[in-house]
Amino acid sequence: MDKFQIRGGNRLFGEISIGGAKNAAVAIIPATILAGDVCRLENLPNISDVSVISRILVEMGAKVTRINKNTVEIDPRGINTSVAEYDIVKSMRASYYLLGALLGRFNRAKVPMPGGCYFGVRPIDQHLKGFEALGATATVENGMICLETDNLAGSNIYLDVVSVGATINIMLAAVKAKGVTVIENAAREPHIVDLANFLNSLGADVRGAGTNVIKVYGVEQLHGATYSIIPDQIEAGTYMAAAAASGGDVLITNVTPKHLQSITAKLVEMGAEVIEGDDSVRVRRERPIRRCNMKTMPHPGLPTDMQPQLAVLLSVADGTSVVTEGVWDNRFQYVDELRKMGAEVSVDGKVAVFQGVPTLKGAPVRATDLRAGAAMVIAALMADGVTEVEDIHYIERGYEDIVGKLAGVGADIHRISGAPTDQEEKITG
Ligand code: EPU
Repeated sequence: MDKFQIRGGNRLFGEISIGGAKNAAVAIIPATILAGDVCRLENLPNISDVSVISRILVEMGAKVTRINKNTVEIDPRGINTSVAEYDIVKSMRASYYLLGALLGRFNRAKVPMPGGCYFGVRPIDQHLKGFEALGATATVENGMICLETDNLAGSNIYLDVVSVGATINIMLAAVKAKGVTVIENAAREPHIVDLANFLNSLGADVRGAGTNVIKVYGVEQLHGATYSIIPDQIEAGTYMAAAAASGGDVLITNVTPKHLQSITAKLVEMGAEVIEGDDSVRVRRERPIRRCNMKTMPHPGLPTDMQPQLAVLLSVADGTSVVTEGVWDNRFQYVDELRKMGAEVSVDGKVAVFQGVPTLKGAPVRATDLRAGAAMVIAALMADGVTEVEDIHYIERGYEDIVGKLAGVGADIHRISGAPTDQEEKITG
């Protein structure tokens, strides 16, 4: 079992470059199924989630050519099935985007119920409600979601919860439907806008992405395109938190500062200084970490995917902080691990109370999911002594070369290889 070994206490100095957004990539790759020609995707993060979703497309008949580490060409014309039956599909949450993309292309789709990181019930009722509004019938047979229609037709859909996945899936199904689809109470995350821009580069007509009303005017055909994925908001935020946690001074480049504003605001409240450039942010901290409260919310609120990485700073703040998780039911599983390092945290449902302690101490801990794992790495950077983080396959789903990037700014971090476990082989998303 591979793990990270981290000796804490080094302040981080230097520059870290951010890659393409994972959650945009895992939507845009399935979206190529809708294209009528080759799509060249640039600035793709080199992470396991991207390899898994690419492999699924290959299994279905697409030709995927890797041009370099961060660029692939996908020719979707060879895809000749609307059924995705492979074990890897089940293990990856974002494979549910195959539903919208296959339905949009073939008027039918059969895809296993999705898996992925577990932090509470992860229903897909809003996705199905959207597909049904567009004219599809949805059934579940032997763990497979089956969608079918003779004719997809635009419709008005009001989402009962702001859902990134449902917004994306409905956009995918609607781009080639007849007429206009209106998605109200749509999610506004940067990767929703990125997907809309990608679809429009193929000839689609998607308007309003980034607001809570998205209109999709159906078109008959989509062509190919060359498209560059936006920078990863959460990868950037994670290194911002790491820089602030270490009390260092790090320039984080290839970012969109506007996407980072809610994260910047929290770090400033905690006592860090954040200087925005055109496509960079510089984060430094000299003062002690100040206590603050925070609550996660859909964009433009503080992203839930930054909650663990920011909250670990509060474990050594100068007082008591209240952290409220506003998106997921169960996103404090990492707290048990953090307690092993000496943190004083109590959790009641979606609220955690962090009582700051003078310092964390190195300990063996595990990544309980992707962002929880990143948070353990940040905690380890702040701690006295050595921390070993296990189950790093979760972290490597979403962070390209996290060891190299942190070591490059002075962290004492190493990846230690061991024999793979069954779990590592099974869980990929
Ligand atoms: N929800 C429903 N019904 C649905 C869909 C969602 O009730 O049909 C609820 C969920 O239970 C949750 C809330 O709505 O309480 C938001 O869920 P959403 O659908 O927005 O989440 P998602 O699309 O499954 C994506 C990201 C997550 C991120 C969330 C929220 C991808 C592949 N995943 O998940 O990212 O936490 O949006 O921003 O884009 C991560 O990257 O670590 C990660 C987990």
